[in-house]
Amino acid sequence: MSAPASIDADLLVHSAQVCTVPPSAAVDPEPSAIRPAGPQRGSQLGDLGIIADGAVAIRDGRIVALGTAGDLRARVSAAAEINAAGKVVTPGLVDPHTHLPWVGDRADEFEMRVAGASYMEIMAAGGGIMSTVRAVRDASTDELVEANLPRLDRLMAHGTTTLEMKTGYGLTTADELKQLEAIHRLDQTHPMDVAATFLGAHAVPAEYQGRTDAYVDLVVEEMLPAAAQWSQRKQRPLFCDVFCEAGVFDVDQSRRILVQARELGFQLKIHADEFEGLGGTALACELGAVSADHLVTTPEEDIAALGRCQTVAVSLPGTPFGLGHTGRAYTPARSIMAAGGALALATDLNPGTCWCESMQFVIALATRYLHLTPAQALAAATLNAACAIGRGDSAGTLAAGRPADLLILNIPDYRHLGYRFGTNLVETVIKAGQVVVGPG
Ligand code: NIG
Ligand code: FE
Repeated sequence: MSAPASIDADLLVHSAQVCTVPPSAAVDPEPSAIRPAGPQRGSQLGDLGIIADGAVAIRDGRIVALGTAGDLRARVSAAAEINAAGKVVTPGLVDPHTHLPWVGDRADEFEMRVAGASYMEIMAAGGGIMSTVRAVRDASTDELVEANLPRLDRLMAHGTTTLEMKTGYGLTTADELKQLEAIHRLDQTHPMDVAATFLGAHAVPAEYQGRTDAYVDLVVEEMLPAAAQWSQRKQRPLFCDVFCEAGVFDVDQSRRILVQARELGFQLKIHADEFEGLGGTALACELGAVSADHLVTTPEEDIAALGRCQTVAVSLPGTPFGLGHTGRAYTPARSIMAAGGALALATDLNPGTCWCESMQFVIALATRYLHLTPAQALAAATLNAACAIGRGDSAGTLAAGRPADLLILNIPDYRHLGYRFGTNLVETVIKAGQVVVGPG
């Protein structure tokens, strides 16, 4: 009997509780079949694929072997080792919905909201999204990049290794393209992996007040073709998103924008049911959107639709928390799971409703207000979150051959995620095989 082949590695992380978060079904219908890179749907959510005393070997930025510490320490010859005994290893967290990049802040509006004004009242009075639009219009691409790099550092220090960013604070063709350019440069400058979304229909800008259809014309006839050309020139695929909400864009206007976007080659997303359930989630399913996001006031029939379509339901519990909403303020996550839907988590990071740079805090909220177990919340913040930005085959799962994006958490058991909040539990962040955040 010959000895098992030895594996060369740059780095071996060993002796941790390793959560691999495998794609798709907890029980393979055919054990021989290769698991498709799909989300964990419905009651399957929460399969962490734990290796109790596990190890991960990394070479050239990718995972080359995964297994028990005993097995890998015998077979792997590594240039460097990290002994993670008593700690937890997970995939890098994925944040599939942020409103980066922006400049400025809205601390004044936060104070008004605390004193009783509602988010939609402030928006109707010309504040809200429009205040950030004014700031972003005044900023250069360089200023946008500069202001947002430190945010990416903080996100990464809290465990996020892949995220989505949107436009939507420009609302003119030139200013939306400027935001896309900033997103592109942030992705090129920072180790974070970035998925980009065009959200020209984030708000009706002041100069189109009372003429929403005319603004939709501008989005459809000018902005979308310009963004599609930019996307081709940069070889960077784009999502198209719409804020489908009472007083913003209704279902018909959202449909017009998304149908045109799909024809131009965009994949689709939607902001639906944040305040009123208009039917945006059913629209997302009908159009084959990759995700439908927010989903607080989602009608029963739209929840049922999520169980029958591929659209990932992205919950953003930091937003109702950030708005101080109580009562039925959070995504009906258990109903979505009962219907067989695929549930993911994201921050919604933005200067208005939710300035939260920590997916760990989102997991803590999801355990309490969405009633997810820590295992369900972790799968929703990794694999399913990756699927919500079409990256289920490259992010959110630890497996041989995949990019080595992983975290070492200074906790003895994954259930401390969510249980503990307000302190950063991430000790080490490894992005594409490189230690980008280390202890101390
Ligand atoms: O997802 N609801 C629309 N957009 C953001 C808020 C953006 C802002 O207020 O600047 C959200 O909550
Ligand atoms: Fe949002």
